[in-house]
Amino acid sequence: MKSKKDKYSELKKKRKEALLGGGKARIEKIHKSGRLTARERIHLLFDQGTFQELGVFVTHRSTWPGMDRKTTVGDGVVCGHGLINGRSTYAFAQDFTVLGGSLSEANAGKITRLQKLALENGAPLIGLNDSGGARIQEGVASLGGYAEIFLNNTLASGVIPQISAIMGPSAGGAVYSPALTDFIFMVEGTSHMFITGPNVIKKVTHEDVSLEELGGAVTHNTRSGVAHFLADDDEECLDMIKELLNYLPQNNLEDPPYQNPADYPDRTSPELNEIVPDNPTSPYDIHDVIREVIDDGAFLEVQPLHSNNIVVGFARLNGHSIGIVANQPKHLAGSLDIECSIKGARFVRFCDAFNIPLLTFEDVPGFLPGTDQEWNGIIKHGAKLIYAYCEATVPKLTVITRKAYGGAYCVMSSKHIRSDYNVAWPTAELAVMGPDGAANILYRREIKGARDPEKMLAEKIEEYETSFANPYIAASLGYLDDVIMPERTRPMLIHALENLLNKRQDLPPKKHGNIPL
Ligand code: HXC
Repeated sequence: MKSKKDKYSELKKKRKEALLGGGKARIEKIHKSGRLTARERIHLLFDQGTFQELGVFVTHRSTWPGMDRKTTVGDGVVCGHGLINGRSTYAFAQDFTVLGGSLSEANAGKITRLQKLALENGAPLIGLNDSGGARIQEGVASLGGYAEIFLNNTLASGVIPQISAIMGPSAGGAVYSPALTDFIFMVEGTSHMFITGPNVIKKVTHEDVSLEELGGAVTHNTRSGVAHFLADDDEECLDMIKELLNYLPQNNLEDPPYQNPADYPDRTSPELNEIVPDNPTSPYDIHDVIREVIDDGAFLEVQPLHSNNIVVGFARLNGHSIGIVANQPKHLAGSLDIECSIKGARFVRFCDAFNIPLLTFEDVPGFLPGTDQEWNGIIKHGAKLIYAYCEATVPKLTVITRKAYGGAYCVMSSKHIRSDYNVAWPTAELAVMGPDGAANILYRREIKGARDPEKMLAEKIEEYETSFANPYIAASLGYLDDVIMPERTRPMLIHALENLLNKRQDLPPKKHGNIPL
């Protein structure tokens, strides 16, 4: 029989093995590729000394020939819980040094147990992905593991925040667990996501595409919109995750964390009076408005590189976490198209699920015209944004800075779809369409028959602008709560928000709605 001393040494040896993962040579290879190991990432992510590992000694159960010699303590994934910024958080990190971080039945079991624990305890779950996908030697048992992870991702959706970081490869169906979570971070140069790689694509569609162009971090942050944040390296990625968590509640039953503001609630911003140009077709940058209004100008923009005609992100107003949705006049004049409707809708739904009040800045000439938009389904995609705003029961505040035309007026958190506090700047124009279009439709015949059509058109445009393109008709109908000087936006919003924080609003009982997909 082994002595107690031998038993203690055995534990020490096994733990050392677990810490080494796939061994020193493979760790060096990871470092050479510019990546950190799973354990180094966990170490940086959690508050020092707070991470407690679960399933430390789990090993695979594969009977595939030769796999008995490839047994590693922990089986290629580090799972556990600890504190991030002092708050309980659960995380797993795939260890690429162990069979390429591939997913086995056993390590999938570690992940699914962690998902259940995070859900039962109402704490955020972070997945640090770095994996060659399903462990080939385990076949369908590995696929089953993925399916169970997908199920748990779906069940936890809207209950706890789920965050994925892609910090190496993520190939095949494995991409769908991150895709089911709330936010995806990618690291430039080292992370890739794709359903089929360049070689398969070459065979099937004869297209030549590099790995980076196909599924690199820049591609998914700009073109596809699959990812939400782009980091320069692993360290920055982990820091960005921690920053995001600061705005989020632990779960859907909690309010987001309050942070004592350094900024003054009654601070006015005379700069805002100058931002909207006199010419209603000249652009300006909505970021300048956002930064002036929020606490200390600190704005965590989500998907800053994708679909720039809408800007979304997190900020604080007098210490309260809020989600901002803003049309961006600098891009496509701020019009609503397919991609920005999807981007906006997903963000609105996230904020609503997690009790984060919504602040909307509106300057929108309407939905983007064109066959490309119509044939690719702007009707159903635009409906997503309407649906998301209509469904949202969190406090909703809206500031119309300039244009609020047509259907876009209704969509962008109008009073009619249960927004709580709606104001406009004096430069606002609320109408069915812009003065040009309206004058051409209403007075087409008169203008055509006029001795000087151009002069008459100009007169009719001016007439229309005076009568309709202003905020006062909407205000007189009660569709706006006030018309305010731009410089007073911050104090007015803070006052309104603080009187809306206890808002309770219900939806009719249902299994779930049917958002147009
Ligand atoms: C078992 C794997 C593996 C896998 C990699 N390895 N992927 N072992 N199952 N899926 C092993 C390698 O054999 C190698 O072992 C070690 O991990 C490191 O891999 P390398 O190829 O040397 O690393 P690298 O050159 O960096 O290339 C990484 C890679 C490549 C691009 C990820 O390994 C690769 O293409 N792997 C297969 C990817 C894939 O097609 N997976 C299946 C996707 S489909 P040794 O012992 O030599 O060091 C899928 C279905 C999910 O996942 C379905 C869910 C519904």
